[in-house]
Amino acid sequence: MKISTRASRMEPSATLAVVNKAKALKGQGRPVISFGAGEPDFDSPRGAVTYAERAISEGQTHYTQSNGIPELREAVASYYSERFDLDYPKDQIIVGAGAKPLIYETLAALVDPGDEVLIFSPAWVSYVEQIRLFDGREKIVDTTSTGCVPLASRVAEAITPGTVGMLINTPNNPTGAVYDEETLRSMAKLAVEHDLWIIFDEIYERLVYGTTTHRNIVSLAPEVMDRTIQINGVSKAFAMTGWRIGYALAPGWLAPKIGAIQGHLTSNACSIAQCASLGALREAGQDVERMREEFSRRRDIMTGLLREMPLISFEEPRGAFYVFVNVQEAIGGTSEGKLLEDDGMFCEALLERELVAAVPGTAFLAPGYIRLSYANSEEEIREGMSRLKRFLQRIETK
Ligand SMILES: Cc1ncc(COP(=O)(O)O)c(C=O)c1O
Repeated sequence: MKISTRASRMEPSATLAVVNKAKALKGQGRPVISFGAGEPDFDSPRGAVTYAERAISEGQTHYTQSNGIPELREAVASYYSERFDLDYPKDQIIVGAGAKPLIYETLAALVDPGDEVLIFSPAWVSYVEQIRLFDGREKIVDTTSTGCVPLASRVAEAITPGTVGMLINTPNNPTGAVYDEETLRSMAKLAVEHDLWIIFDEIYERLVYGTTTHRNIVSLAPEVMDRTIQINGVSKAFAMTGWRIGYALAPGWLAPKIGAIQGHLTSNACSIAQCASLGALREAGQDVERMREEFSRRRDIMTGLLREMPLISFEEPRGAFYVFVNVQEAIGGTSEGKLLEDDGMFCEALLERELVAAVPGTAFLAPGYIRLSYANSEEEIREGMSRLKRFLQRIETK
């Protein structure tokens, strides 16, 4: 039986593949430590749970407006006003079933077959696949040699008459880079000069560490407000990945189109989860800060231990909860006789020999790297890092 070309060329999520393999081994009783997950290990905030329980007992269990309940869209508007000094009316806010489907719906509204979209690699797994679902073409600009932030001159070189927009993700998954003001201003300038739209994915904006601050591109460069779609949600900062709530803030000319696409796809995000997210935005500010502090501590522990290991290097992560580790020196070496041909084989051997799961960089368009998440307990981080160190020490290089 025939399946579509679209389906046959689609790659499954490499992150999920690693997580699933690690889970299967765990299920067999093996003491696996997984640094593969893209989600916080904390419980969702009490405020969210209370609002959800109330929503169920009060019967808020029906379809909602397809763009989301007005109270939640108002809460998102207040959040953006207080945090970024940005004024979005609630009809320019679309609540959806996570940031991921909102990016998809936005691309559905913006990308025609053959259109080129700029992506700065290393980049989150789903961007490329989603662009391809609309027969668009990704135009990759590598940032690994420029401190994991895009260099304006390289981006300018990549722009062609077919380029329609760019996807910016800061704080970044997988690198933990947080784009500085100058970089964001130069991306905004390019967008204006070349008439491009910007999808600004700031899902990790609350999770930055040390003296780093997250900057919002529209508050830095208000001239791009009418060409920018901001993507955010409760998944990461509020430890609410399973509730599936995200929000998009779009220009007035585009928001109804994204809303219409969502209306035909999912109708609306889960009514109970929307109420939970309202509870989170209203009441969980302190929970977010507590989790951020804990991530910051874990980041310091993990990076401190990584610095003592051979054959690897990394840029200090300043946001999100990942360290993106360069393992190129180990590639081509052998682990107990097995040739580590690429980052995929490196991760496979690490899981087999030391029961430590990490995601291959190839999944993020960056071969020769691995992504480690520090959304684990301190104990797991310490034990996992000692296993990784042993694994690296035993690799025989040429
Ligand atoms: C950069 C980035 N954007 C978007 C998402 C999707 O978030 P959500 O769980 O809200 O769909 C993720 C999740 O891993 C992410 O890392």
